[in-house]
Amino acid sequence: MRSDGPTGGWSAADLDAVDLDAVDLFDARFHAADDPHRVWAAMRRRAPLHRQELPDGRGFWSVTRYQDACRVLGNHREFTSERGSLLQQLGKGDAAAGKMLVATDPPRHGELRRPLRALFSGASLVAAEQRVRAAVDTLVRSVAEDGVWDVAEQAARLPMAAAAALMDLPEEDWPDLARWTDMAAAPEDPACRVGSSGATLAIAHHELFEYFAREARSRAGTEGEDLIRRLATMCVEGAALSRDEVVVNCYSVLLGANATTAHTAAGTVLALAHDPHMYRAVRENPDLVPALVEEGLRWTSAARSFLRHAVADVELSGGRVPAGDAVAVWVGSANRDETVFAEAERFVLPRADNRHIAFGYGPHYCLGAAVARMTLRILFEQIVALVEELEPAGPPRRLASNFVAGYTRLPVRTRLRARARSGMPTQARPL
Ligand code: HEM
Repeated sequence: MRSDGPTGGWSAADLDAVDLDAVDLFDARFHAADDPHRVWAAMRRRAPLHRQELPDGRGFWSVTRYQDACRVLGNHREFTSERGSLLQQLGKGDAAAGKMLVATDPPRHGELRRPLRALFSGASLVAAEQRVRAAVDTLVRSVAEDGVWDVAEQAARLPMAAAAALMDLPEEDWPDLARWTDMAAAPEDPACRVGSSGATLAIAHHELFEYFAREARSRAGTEGEDLIRRLATMCVEGAALSRDEVVVNCYSVLLGANATTAHTAAGTVLALAHDPHMYRAVRENPDLVPALVEEGLRWTSAARSFLRHAVADVELSGGRVPAGDAVAVWVGSANRDETVFAEAERFVLPRADNRHIAFGYGPHYCLGAAVARMTLRILFEQIVALVEELEPAGPPRRLASNFVAGYTRLPVRTRLRARARSGMPTQARPL
């Protein structure tokens, strides 16, 4: 039974055999050891509202069905984002509540988001595309000859190009920024950890906050159209943002971009490597790339979970969440809900009516969705123009994180197309 590859799927007996009382979805090691899809399928079937208590007394509900996930993410009157939106914040609250977009409820959330929207679309997106193309060119050059390509390692720096374009960040700073956001997104993973996970998170926050505070200071009063300057000059509810508010929103955008896009790329490459027929179909018909990107987003669901807290008692499938309790929405599970997606455990290309919620649902719907889609589309257009065949070349290593679904190692063997081998330019098409 495999759910890493493009098939997967379990019998009722398989799902009934899962001991849900023993499952620890909070523990990053659980996510590093295996993929959680069998456990989630069992929860959707037997316990769509599942309670987990931690040894230290904290506890949370898990929501795994699509309709419940949309309700929790989409209804801020029932579920607030202001007490932490990540499981790692459980029981700690959120110092950025009401300041950072993702930790602010409407109506203030809308006031904060509206002036930023233009920077993630239209002319800004076109300008970012140039930087993304250059980064994709560098990335695909790492598949320079037939051999083994570690997609996880090579794709890791890709989203930095897009985020840096939006924020006008100098290229020499990218490696540090990418390392600190990795540490913030997955502080428990051995590849990111510096000492304890708490220390890792503290270092990452300190470095990133200091960095953006310096950038905001040095740009004050200077001309330019980038996210840092926009945050520093805009008004919300009649008042300018404080330096603190500027800094936490820069942090959030960088984390949003870096923690997710590369893992979606890697997860999609893995699905293609497991299914040579599917890879050939895209290679022979690159018009399938947009559908590949959408199915890769659903399949990978790189943002694994988001947290909310119930504002009042709320009835969901399987029971009642009491006011004040924490609820974890498992996005990856909702995206494989068999009542919404036909052959939900298969990577289907093209998939009709792909209503995935990989970018979330409701007011906090990902601000960078168009940027992520553009980055992934350019990447896969280049890959299919260059690579004749892909196959797995060794076991992947999963990221230890209850927040991000991804890999820190993902070797695939590539055979280049004849014209790529002879040095002819590839045929990646402009968007
Ligand atoms: C494949 C890539 C991506 C995935 C899967 C993803 C996923 C998500 C999800 C699920 C949310 C909703 C959070 C919630 O409901 O609490 C979100 C929000 C957000 N994302 Fe993304 N994201 C991606 C790429 C990006 C990029 C490239 C950027 C920036 C350039 C970005 C910036 C943000 C921001 C700022 C928010 C907060 C929006 C708000 O609260 O109104 N994301 N993202």
